[in-house]
Amino acid sequence: MPRKVILDVDPGRDDAVAIMLAALSPDIDLLGVSVTHGNRPLDVTVPNALRVVDWLQLDIPVYRGAADPLLSFIDHERRDPEWIYDLIETIEGSDLDLPAATSQPQEQHAVGWLIETLMASAGDIVLCPVGPMTNIALAIRMEPRIVGKIEEMIFMGGAIGPGNISPCAEFNVWKDPEAARIVLNAGIKKVTMVPLDATHSAHIKRDECQALIDLGTRGGEGAGKLAMRRIARGTELGSKLQAGPIHDALVICAVLDPSVLQQVHHTPLDVIVNPGGKDDGQTVVDLRPGDWAKATPTAQVALSADREKFVRMLTEILALA
Ligand code: BDR
Ligand code: CA
Repeated sequence: MPRKVILDVDPGRDDAVAIMLAALSPDIDLLGVSVTHGNRPLDVTVPNALRVVDWLQLDIPVYRGAADPLLSFIDHERRDPEWIYDLIETIEGSDLDLPAATSQPQEQHAVGWLIETLMASAGDIVLCPVGPMTNIALAIRMEPRIVGKIEEMIFMGGAIGPGNISPCAEFNVWKDPEAARIVLNAGIKKVTMVPLDATHSAHIKRDECQALIDLGTRGGEGAGKLAMRRIARGTELGSKLQAGPIHDALVICAVLDPSVLQQVHHTPLDVIVNPGGKDDGQTVVDLRPGDWAKATPTAQVALSADREKFVRMLTEILALA
């Protein structure tokens, strides 16, 4: 039986590859894609998500969600600064290099759809947030009973080692730390965090991107070009690496085969909310040995990933269509 998945995204090139994998894998039943602000403003991330499903010629519903972090109305400069969009545009280019979307998002708001879908389910849905967790936090606040309906949440976010948007914070958590704090403290029975430590260890190389393009499928061509463009842009900006992470795609591979994640620790996990502080949006785990560190909430946290397996999974799934 394919696993039922809800993907909450902020595309974003790596989000786009995650959508492709979830949509194309026969072992995933992708119920829909909810979209949030994040890599770009919502007016860009929604059409970007539609570009991906149109490119695949699939009929996957896309829902428009939260345009701003929970507290941006009182703290706009810290929670939703303009410079972040300029920075990401510099790194990623102005669009996804996919043709403009012709389809439309669903009428229903993403948060209403998340609640309705989870409440109507048999408790067998895997929730995969790969952007800021604003939609998920709003849904939990509106209908706390959805928490018991989530079979598992596997999310891309956080960092144990260095952050990427501040010395110690990862972008998704940093962009809406209040939302992440609400979600991680809600009591979801099984939570797996896929932090930067894991996604960076599963980087993809230029020749592997070319191999995806050479598959000759829409999935392979689309994902290979998206990943290749990101590596090329990194080179233009001075990076010596001929490789790059596709963060969000690793979450989908973990849904399909948890063994793609390595050095997985069961640990307390929380988020620091400290507007203006250097540690704002930092994820805190407790990797000290011994069973005295028993604080809650807890999660499985992966410190690395099996790079070869990840690339193999990408190739197998994207070869399908
Ligand atoms: C995360 O932030 C976004 O830029 C990416 O899409 C990914 O979800 C990496 O920190
Ligand atoms: Ca993302």
